[in-house]
Amino acid sequence: MAQLTKQKQAITLAWTGASGAPYGLRLLECLLAADYTVYLLISSAARVVLATEHGLQLASQPDAAKQQLVAFFDCDPNQLVVCGKEEWFSPVASGSAAPKQMVVCPCSAGSVAAIAHGMSDNLIERAADVVIKERGQLLLVVRETPFSTLHLENMHKLSQLGVTIMPAAPGFYHQPTSIEDLVDFMVARILDHLGIEQGLVPRWGYDQRP
Ligand SMILES: Cc1cc2nc3c(=O)[nH]c(=O)nc-3n(C[C@H](O)[C@H](O)[C@H](O)COP(=O)(O)O)c2cc1C
Repeated sequence: MAQLTKQKQAITLAWTGASGAPYGLRLLECLLAADYTVYLLISSAARVVLATEHGLQLASQPDAAKQQLVAFFDCDPNQLVVCGKEEWFSPVASGSAAPKQMVVCPCSAGSVAAIAHGMSDNLIERAADVVIKERGQLLLVVRETPFSTLHLENMHKLSQLGVTIMPAAPGFYHQPTSIEDLVDFMVARILDHLGIEQGLVPRWGYDQRP
């Protein structure tokens, strides 16, 4: 009889160099709280944005970055795998092992372009390419304004492939009173799409009417 083992739920999360580091940090916190194993990929530009927007100076060496993040979130070290940008033997680099879900949050226009063209030149681009070819679920939380025709064309192309384009554009109908409320609006929508239960913000039509 074949031996089948039940795998713990896993997901790939990439942080790229778009503004919106708080979205990425909060999403990681929620995925860890939901007991996911998270394969975390961080671009060089994302580290600059993290330092600029959150004052978090993340090491470029994956093991050192992991130690910082485990301390930051006080999480189980086994739940977090930080991968280097050319770590081609990482599970996320192959359709035979990669998680079926991936979120790029925040996602830069540059990463959108690279993913739309299947560049696979670093592990983030390769992991996204794998999820697309395996027909998994890929969410891109894109942040740029305004969008050029080129950005829109790239997003249109990806949308036609089944990729979900989720602009980092929080609503205001939950009457936010803090930046955390705005961040949680976006993270709640991402978790909804991933099928992860959340109670971060009230749901439309239940307790939102004036
Ligand atoms: C503080 C900061 C904020 C940035 N914000 C954005 C942004 O909101 N959207 C975007 O597309 N690029 C933004 N960029 C530029 C990208 O980081 C740059 O194009 C980079 O090459 C993207 O590379 P990556 O996709 O590999 O992370 C920003 C850069 C910095 C330093």
